[in-house]
Amino acid sequence: MKPDVARELFDASAETYDRVNSVISLGLDARWRAWAAREAVAEPGTRVLDAFAGTGLVGLACARLGADVTLADISARMLAVARSRAQRAGLSVRFAQHDLTDAEAPSPPEAPFDAITMMFGARYLDDPAQVIGRLASWLRPEGRFVLVEFVEPSGAVLSRLAAIYFFRILPRIASALAGRRELYDTLVTTTHAMGPSASLVGLIENAGLEVEQVHLMGFGLVCGIVARP
Ligand SMILES: C[S@@+](CC[C@H](N)C(=O)[O-])C[C@H]1O[C@@H](n2cnc3c(N)ncnc32)[C@H](O)[C@@H]1O
Repeated sequence: MKPDVARELFDASAETYDRVNSVISLGLDARWRAWAAREAVAEPGTRVLDAFAGTGLVGLACARLGADVTLADISARMLAVARSRAQRAGLSVRFAQHDLTDAEAPSPPEAPFDAITMMFGARYLDDPAQVIGRLASWLRPEGRFVLVEFVEPSGAVLSRLAAIYFFRILPRIASALAGRRELYDTLVTTTHAMGPSASLVGLIENAGLEVEQVHLMGFGLVCGIVARP
C-alpha cells in the first residue's frame, strides 16, 4: 500500500480503531500486545521504538514496564489518539510522525534502540523485508525485533473455526461498527497475502534477521516473532 493511501485510511479510522479491534478480537488483542511488550522490554530504561505504532497500545505497554519509548507512525490522527492516551496515563513518550518506508529519511535521533516493536504494520508494506531490514539497522547489535502479525492459521479444528470467523464474519462486524469496510477487507486480503506463520518467518529471515522465537496466539491467527540482527 502506498504511504499516502495508508495515511488517509488510518487518519479516517483513528477514532474507532481501538474499540473495533477490541470487539473483533474478543478482547484478546490486549494479550497479544502485552506479550510483545514483555518480549521487548528486558529491564526498565530499555530504549524501544514502536514502529507503525498507531494509537500506541504496544509502545505505551512498554512504557508502563519502564521503557524509554518512541512511537512512530505516518498517521497524525492515530498518533493524536496515542498522545491523549499517554497523557491520561501520565506516561512520557516521544512521538514521530514519519513515513517509515522512506529510505531517504534519517534514522531517529534516539537510535540505536534496544528493541523495536512492529505490530500489524508489515501487512501494509509493498516490500516488508526491505523496510524491516532498514528498521533493524537502528537496533543495537544485541537488540530485539518483536513483530506481530495476523497469519493464515493451519492445523487444529479451533484454528479452522477461527479462520472462518476472521475471514468471513469479522469484516462484516467491523465495518458495521466502524463504517470503513475497506480497512477490514484489506485485513483479510493482506492476511491471505501474508500466508502461514512459516512465510512470516521467511520474511524476517529475508530481512537479514535471525529468528529466536515464534509464538502463535489467537487460535493460530496471530504470530509473534522475536528476532535479532
Ligand atoms: C493496523 S495499524 C497497527 C497499529 C498498532 N501497531 C497496533 O498494534 O494496533 C497499522 C499502522 O501502520 C501505520 N502505517 C502504515 N503505513 C505506514 C508508513 N508507510 N509509515 C509509517 N506508518 C505507517 C498506519 O498509520 C497505522 O497506524
